[in-house]
Amino acid sequence: MPTKASGVESPHACKQYAIYDFMKRNSDNVIIVDEVMKVYKTRKIEYTAIRNISLTVKTGEFVSVLGPSGSGKTTLMNLLGTLDRPTNGKIFIDGVDTSTLNERELAILRNRKIGFVFQSYNLVPYLTAFENVSLPLMVDGIDTSENLKRGKDLLSEVDLEGKMHKKPNELSGGEQQRVAIVRALINSPPIILADEPTGNLDSKTSDAVMSVLVRMAKENNVTIVMVTHEEDIAAYSDRSVYLKDGVVEREKRLKK
Ligand SMILES: Nc1ncnc2c1ncn2[C@@H]1O[C@H](COP(=O)(O)OP(=O)(O)OP(=O)(O)O)[C@@H](O)[C@H]1O
Ligand SMILES: [Mg+2]
Repeated sequence: MPTKASGVESPHACKQYAIYDFMKRNSDNVIIVDEVMKVYKTRKIEYTAIRNISLTVKTGEFVSVLGPSGSGKTTLMNLLGTLDRPTNGKIFIDGVDTSTLNERELAILRNRKIGFVFQSYNLVPYLTAFENVSLPLMVDGIDTSENLKRGKDLLSEVDLEGKMHKKPNELSGGEQQRVAIVRALINSPPIILADEPTGNLDSKTSDAVMSVLVRMAKENNVTIVMVTHEEDIAAYSDRSVYLKDGVVEREKRLKK
């Protein structure tokens, strides 16, 4: 916590204290986005993809992010996932100010705290479903028999018991996405970030995948932030946040 130096508090220290105080009072906020801005700079132009977004997400909450193409949804997800850094503002993940971490520390934070689910399932093509699910455990050096059994149990829970030894190209889109969801959950991260997880699926398969995602997240008190274009898919969430031109245009509470 910042301290007063010679009786004068700098605006920066005041701001730091305000954030600290806010977090203390809202300790169940697993994600805090504080006045975040993202400017993409190329040699010729600067483009402000996100301007001054502030957002909090509570532990166990499921937030959907909607908005037109180019409104900044993926940019926001990349910032939340610490895959990219904000130009201005701060992001706190599970109480950690990510702006204070170096690249190596961010990689550790990502591995421990965040499971990613993408539109294209991003499975390793030459590994089986079970091996794909086990991969994060191996990266973390925690591929114990107990954890590997958990992988098998989770695959069974998403009805893939008989397909554990199949490779991605032998699985349907919905099956591949269920493998990707189990892979995202295998390290028991507190947060799942999903960018259009049903974007490549038909509506029936989308519903099946969403049911699995919601059930598993609620069972494990996992927080989800999910980008979608579809109101039907957003209806699974607790709250929808609508982006337009890089700002939060409005929010809609759906549950609780
Ligand atoms: N690496 C980059 N360099 C420059 N501009 C970028 C970069 N990435 C995104 N942008 C621009 O930032 C804006 C927001 O992009 P973003 O990918 O966040 O949109 P989106 O809401 O996810 O859109 P979509 O629904 O099409 O996926 C767009 O106008 C895009 O052209
Ligand atoms: Mg996008």
